[in-house]
Amino acid sequence: MQPTPFSSRAEWFEALDDVPSNPSRQPSLGDLIALRCDRRGFLKGALGVAVAGALAKTQLEQAALAAEPSHPAASRFGFSEISRGVDGDHHVAPGYNAEVLIRWGDAVLAQAPAFDPLQQTVAAQRQQFGYNNDYIGYIPLPLGSNSSDHCLLCINHEYTDEELMFPGLGQYDKALSQATAEICQIEMACNGGSIIEIQKQQGKWQLVADSPYARRISALDTPMRLSGPAAGDNRLQTGSDPSGTEVIGTLNNCAGGITPWGTWLMAEENFHGYFIGELADGREAANHKRLGVPGQRYAWGRFDARFDIGKEPKEPNRFGWIVEVDPLDPQSTPIKRTALGRFKHEGAECIINGDGRLVIYSGDDQRFEYLYKFVSRDPVNLQDRAANRDLLDHGELSVARLQADGSLSWLPLVHGQNGLSAENGFASQADVLIDCRRAADLLGATPMDRPEDIEPNRHNGKVYVMLTNNSKRSADQQDAANPRANNLWGHILELTPEGGDHAATNGRWEILIKAGDPADPAVAALWNPATSAQGWFACPDNCAVDPQGRLWISTDQGKGWKKASGGADGIWALETDGPLRGTGKLFYQVPVGAEMCGPCFTPDGKTLFVAVQHPASDGTKDYPGFNRASSFEDPATRWPDFQPDMPPRPAVVVISKTDGGLIGS
Ligand code: FEO
Ligand code: CA
Ligand code: CA
Repeated sequence: MQPTPFSSRAEWFEALDDVPSNPSRQPSLGDLIALRCDRRGFLKGALGVAVAGALAKTQLEQAALAAEPSHPAASRFGFSEISRGVDGDHHVAPGYNAEVLIRWGDAVLAQAPAFDPLQQTVAAQRQQFGYNNDYIGYIPLPLGSNSSDHCLLCINHEYTDEELMFPGLGQYDKALSQATAEICQIEMACNGGSIIEIQKQQGKWQLVADSPYARRISALDTPMRLSGPAAGDNRLQTGSDPSGTEVIGTLNNCAGGITPWGTWLMAEENFHGYFIGELADGREAANHKRLGVPGQRYAWGRFDARFDIGKEPKEPNRFGWIVEVDPLDPQSTPIKRTALGRFKHEGAECIINGDGRLVIYSGDDQRFEYLYKFVSRDPVNLQDRAANRDLLDHGELSVARLQADGSLSWLPLVHGQNGLSAENGFASQADVLIDCRRAADLLGATPMDRPEDIEPNRHNGKVYVMLTNNSKRSADQQDAANPRANNLWGHILELTPEGGDHAATNGRWEILIKAGDPADPAVAALWNPATSAQGWFACPDNCAVDPQGRLWISTDQGKGWKKASGGADGIWALETDGPLRGTGKLFYQVPVGAEMCGPCFTPDGKTLFVAVQHPASDGTKDYPGFNRASSFEDPATRWPDFQPDMPPRPAVVVISKTDGGLIGS
């Protein structure tokens, strides 16, 4: 393993995103026109009237003009903002409580031993809450109810930071080379997900300790099945699975989704980092290169042949999928749904379309990657849960092209169409799905600034796209939908499906906000002028639409927090409609080194669950007074326990209003 210049796992993951693997980044003619005609600057220009109509002022710009300071519009968010800053603790708006619900090492299964960070074992970790909680999904109990005081929470565990988890490993570089077989197995048990049953008692959420639904899913030993068009394909067959349909475990489970029938979708994101070795089978070389395999950032392959591509060249093809889990049946086998394509899936948020079919949006989180959506062939059956068992095996995956005139096309990733044929290396639909990125390249999809969460809002029919950042976009790669070179701050797009039809192949897009400091002209941010000094943010990553239809954003600035915003990550409310459209408001802030994940509301809007991921990890060299990389013995914070013998622990936090009212009221 090579020494790395990074001081933490999180910084390495961020740097991975800094290595674009998409070779097809030539601006199109439309992009070039857009570049020359910046959407705002263009109105002063002298090109044709028809184009001018298409490039008229954005809604935000119109809203900003309409927002007369003498007649301030009413905010949909009633809370008082906290101050931007960074310290060792978390903070929430006045009048709210923020309490830890479950932390790394807490019991998930009833028999789990007490957490002992000095003597962690594989057996203990298999029963305990995993590391780096990300997505949080809420399934009301009883199923089909609208209960806001009893549920299953489905929580993803994305990856591990062994330098903060295990004593004696020192900082990141050393930890990597010193990982033992047991440490690797504990890490495998830390990936995946946890299902917990929780109930509100006397106004406080509590774990149901002996829940029959409690479950740990991991990379270590959870059997999974591949289904859909690519299942069983030769390219998914390995020495231990000649059928190409059975996989052990899931990796790097980032964001996700909950289906209308109450199953949990786990997105496999940066799976490439778990593989080492030199490729023995040249047939997969282009595929692996396009996805950055082998990433060589975990030692697992030294002890487990399936993570060494010299021994199992096709094993990486069995990751990078969306995994469907039935939390209501703890014995069920999670299923990797190949119809949804293989890439670095950030999430999988869904909506029932007007015609009853399910539409799932998914971003591919790397610089210059694409937006995807899947439309099921069949309608969702809300009366008979079992009827949806194979719904995600049949349907059409497509990828987005965003034209400079604000129009949007969804290009079908279907074998035999538009050049996706044998002469271009796609012999079957399995090839299209396994090599999704390369198929999308061929179709001319639009390379975006790191697509993370994509969330439909059923209240207004729009779809919100989080684009985290892209420090590698150069001036000659700017386009209308990714309008800033060296974009350290990210932006948010709003998509409008044609005719309110999420299955439509056309639509419109526009920029909702361009993140970063609006007071710094060099940033070229775009906010509603009503946004306060705390209310703007940088690097939107996840988001949630609350039961009132309001949008909430969580951020991940990585190690670049100081330059991007000067404060820690957190949750911001963001107005999407009316004169205050594009106004942000700071609600919650994470401890130093953490990123904010998983915002999730109860159906009544009175509880907000958030996931604090990797406290003490990212960018601690810029943390005033600490100014060094963290380790187990010397972390930048010991949140949330603040005990000298306890390391920092990723945790799910429950936020509620002190008076029991609506969040954000
Ligand atoms: Fe796992 Fe793209 O954040
Ligand atoms: Ca994310
Ligand atoms: Ca992220």
